[in-house]
Amino acid sequence: RVISPQCLVIFGASGDLTHRKLIPALFELYLQRRIPSEFGIVGCARRPWTDNEFREKMKVKLSNKISGKETEWEQFSNYLFYEPVDLQQSDHVVRLSKRLNEIDKKQATHGNRTFYLSVSPNFYASGCKALKEAGLLDDPKKSRLVIEKPFGRDYSSAKKLNKIVQSCAEENQIYRIDHYLGKETVQNILVLRFANTIFEPIWNRNYISSVQITSSETVGVEDRAGYYESSGALRDMLQNHMTQMLAVTAMEPPGKFEPEAIRNEKAKVLQASKLADENEPWNCCIRGQYGEGGNISNQLKGYRQEDGVNSNSTTETYIATKVFVDNWRWQGVPFYLRTGKRLPKRLGEIVLTFKDVPVHLFESTIINPAPNQLILRIQPNEGATFKFEVKSPGSGMKSRPVEMEFSYDESFGEPSDEGYVRLLADAMLSDPTLFTRSDEVEAAWKLYTPLIELMDNSPWKLPIYNYESMTWGPPESDQLLSKDNIFWRRP
Ligand code: BG6
Repeated sequence: RVISPQCLVIFGASGDLTHRKLIPALFELYLQRRIPSEFGIVGCARRPWTDNEFREKMKVKLSNKISGKETEWEQFSNYLFYEPVDLQQSDHVVRLSKRLNEIDKKQATHGNRTFYLSVSPNFYASGCKALKEAGLLDDPKKSRLVIEKPFGRDYSSAKKLNKIVQSCAEENQIYRIDHYLGKETVQNILVLRFANTIFEPIWNRNYISSVQITSSETVGVEDRAGYYESSGALRDMLQNHMTQMLAVTAMEPPGKFEPEAIRNEKAKVLQASKLADENEPWNCCIRGQYGEGGNISNQLKGYRQEDGVNSNSTTETYIATKVFVDNWRWQGVPFYLRTGKRLPKRLGEIVLTFKDVPVHLFESTIINPAPNQLILRIQPNEGATFKFEVKSPGSGMKSRPVEMEFSYDESFGEPSDEGYVRLLADAMLSDPTLFTRSDEVEAAWKLYTPLIELMDNSPWKLPIYNYESMTWGPPESDQLLSKDNIFWRRP
């Protein structure tokens, strides 16, 4: 669908996210001819740039993506404007409001606006208030507010932030973004489950013995130490992306494919979720921090040696935990979640392991035959694999596991859009389906409260284990599963 005429106003336009994700996503939408001629993108940050400087900076940053599409970029860059704004200064916001009126006239965007807060989370509340005070959020049909993660630092701060944001805008104007929900493969979980008959009847505690959700990265903290030091893997990945994947995997079928119906089901799953051991949470969580590693040609620094990181830092770059979804469908099925930086592979996947057959009639050709598994590959090589047993050729009746593959690339021949392409378009089209509602965000924080309290009050009870860069996290994380007689999948 073509985006409706409007101005997209990006606060934090000099930051990483703008040139790494937002402008590339908007350029992609332009190439897909989904940006109307009545459109404007207004970058705002404290730097005193001009429109032309902003255009030039973006051009340099996106040079790889622009290469071969220079003419299209030149046309696209006419949509880019820049206004120096410090959201803490009310006169800046008033000036912005005037500038937006001018751009509205020039671009014929009729006061229709999406405000994107890509600023430090410390400024979400004051930023919303500033926009509200300037009257920029007054018309719920014409103004939308997109807020990046992390939304809050814990349950109580998320609740407080929700209250403030909801006092500035109506809930249906607020789009809390979690870019994992924009990933094709995360949305595919819904289609796989609810557009086929064969999965739903077995998608429950009667057939599934455990679920593993992994998001691993090879990169380290990069140049984001300032943010990451006060965040860590729990707040950066577990509470949001990982937990949203859990919600989509575990939710009940919605009555309709409508935003509120879907968000109701996700919220219900999160409200029913709890740590496997809430009273002694150290039994169901392992934290780690990467040390040095790599090889002779690529020596990698440990986290504490990275620029901007405290040399005694106790920020976790790896976290693994065990969660139960305490409802009729999932009672007793462990969900193991793990995420970390500087692991050997960039990978996102959800592994559903089915229960073993009641009687083994056949001998297996492998030493440890695994039960059936359905592996949903979120990234890379998006798709799914189903592992099942077949007869091994030749005399006798031995069984052997094989894999049935579905790959997005092979079936559809074109790479999927980045999550931000989908989500930016949806927000600008006022479709909140793939955005997290206030109750979901709060429930996700509540789930991890026992861990956050430990980390904040008695961190020694939740030690940080060191792991060598480019290994699968601290060895202790294996024990989280081996206690239950299972193992992390090592793809
Ligand atoms: C972001 C986190 O939300 O997600 C980053 O802040 C992380 O630390 C990134 O690297 C991972 O996203 P993706 O899409 O590359 O898996």
